[in-house]
Amino acid sequence: MNKELLPASLPRAVSWQEGEMFMLDQTRLPLETVIEKMETVEDVWQGIKVLKVRGAPAIGIAAAYGLCVALKPYRAQPLDLFMRELEKSSDYLDSARPTAVNLGWALRRMKNFASRMIDGAENSAALYDLLVAEAIRIHEEDKALCRGMGENGAPLIKEGMGVLTHCNAGSLATSELGTATAPMYVAHAAGVKFRVYADETRPLLQGARLTSWELQQAGIDVTLNTDNMVAHLMAQGLIDLVIVGTDRVAANGDVANKIGTLGVAILAQHFGIPFYVACPSSTIDFDTMSGTDIPIEQRESEEVTEFGMRRTAPEAVKVANPAFDVTPADLVTGIITEKGIAVAPYASSLRNLFPKEAAE
Ligand code: MRU
Repeated sequence: MNKELLPASLPRAVSWQEGEMFMLDQTRLPLETVIEKMETVEDVWQGIKVLKVRGAPAIGIAAAYGLCVALKPYRAQPLDLFMRELEKSSDYLDSARPTAVNLGWALRRMKNFASRMIDGAENSAALYDLLVAEAIRIHEEDKALCRGMGENGAPLIKEGMGVLTHCNAGSLATSELGTATAPMYVAHAAGVKFRVYADETRPLLQGARLTSWELQQAGIDVTLNTDNMVAHLMAQGLIDLVIVGTDRVAANGDVANKIGTLGVAILAQHFGIPFYVACPSSTIDFDTMSGTDIPIEQRESEEVTEFGMRRTAPEAVKVANPAFDVTPADLVTGIITEKGIAVAPYASSLRNLFPKEAAE
């Protein structure tokens, strides 16, 4: 089904083929489509760090496969050494970026799975094969999560609406349909006509380079705007609905997402526009009580002082470059999940939708 919703020309963020991991280098989009083979765990760590692969679910999938890349050379080693390497590589991959909870979630799932399987595994090679199968399961399950968010969120998009999104919570950030874009792909396939406004998303331009690129290829009516145009577009009555993705939702419904999301949420409230967050269960962090506990990644100053490889700020100027911000739950109209749309109070609605995950 998903194949029909997405254009065949759209490359996937990550893939596993014949025992090898491949990563699309998203830093080169939309000008070049370059897919790299991941030879070492360092390649995978670097790919996550420099945003060749980015977007919370895609980072999780990459980390799961990244562990397999790390463990491949240890297949002939004794099981205890194999497990030590698993632990070491997991810690290493987890250090690549702090905010998206899917990274730690996927690595924890792989480690727990290995611990459960070790007694039945004949040797490291057998355990390695089981871990590859688990990573593929994480990847496949994400496709279903995207589809669920798509089906649950699509009814929010009505004929003629203007829908604003921020950053890229699209196919390129996940396994297939994306999170914020999943309702758009499903509504589009159902013949609903709507317009999407894609925030450019300074400083790394995920909206310009990725979201407008993928929606354009899918034949969805997309207009690119810079981040500082949002208030004006809303004041003009062009935006009826906001849907964004997230890197981590705290237990109380506070939402971390790409820097600038908080401003969009405040504006949406001012203009009375519904503000939805699309979030698979893998992005809900029941162990983090509120948004103030979410670690916010700080990135290199060059991302702000340069534009298109050209210096645009004075040498030695002080720079702020937080990659994410936190939108408080009271600005969120609803959280679109694969199991339905959670509404306030989120502390109970998220737990009711995901009792098993909340108890883990
Ligand atoms: O820094 P990035 O590009 O990894 O940030 C991505 C986002 O903020 C996305 O909105 C979020 O990860 C959701 S992806 C489905």
